[in-house]
Amino acid sequence: MSDHRKDDEMKVFEDEKKILMDHEYDGIKELNHPLPKWWLITFYLTIAYAVPYYLAHTFFGAKTIQEEFKEDMNEVSELQADYLKRKGGFILAEYEKVKSDPGTAKLAKKTFKRKCKACHLADGGGSIGPNLTDEYWIHGDGSVASNYEVLYHGVVDKGMPEWGTSLGKERIYAVLTVLEEMKNTHVEGGKEPQGKKVE
Ligand code: HEC
Repeated sequence: MSDHRKDDEMKVFEDEKKILMDHEYDGIKELNHPLPKWWLITFYLTIAYAVPYYLAHTFFGAKTIQEEFKEDMNEVSELQADYLKRKGGFILAEYEKVKSDPGTAKLAKKTFKRKCKACHLADGGGSIGPNLTDEYWIHGDGSVASNYEVLYHGVVDKGMPEWGTSLGKERIYAVLTVLEEMKNTHVEGGKEPQGKKVE
């Protein structure tokens, strides 16, 4: 490369000489600036990590992030369902507590009169709604726990409203004590039996 003018030649400073690499292309030389150690270590670690990662996901059916997410979400919805069940479900001890409360009888009668009488009549003999004084039950077996479910969720498409939201647990427990008193009183002129007989 004899026709190079001196000006064109790359300048190499004194302190750069020890990092000057020993190749040259058309007068272009290269300095070797090594990457920082921490950077290189991180880089090699990602390569090392890639090997088991690739094997696990390609050959050993390791879970993808989406699958893990789905599993976590399932767990969350199970916990939520569980919580709702405990929150809204019948708990005998709670019912007993409400039942033994001296204020309950009055509240229960008032609630039945206001919310239930229209369809089941004051004595429970039934009109739009079924007779609550016989041993025939359309839903469940007429036990407190079973009636609780009917009251809480209602049978909306058959005309029995749901009371979970408007009355809440406590008042449903209260009204259940009225149903317990009506049970098997076989009031006169009551509606004909509906559902299955419960011995
Ligand atoms: C708008 C009318 C209506 C009102 C108000 C109503 N019910 Fe009912 N109820 C019904 C009807 C209709 C059924 C029957 C549903 C069916 O056929 O599946 C029913 C069913 C029931 C049952 C189940 C009976 C069985 O044989 O399984 C119970 C218990 C009950 N009601 C209690 C109550 C109580 C307590 C209240 C007040 C908080 C109430 N209902 C308010 C119409 C009503």
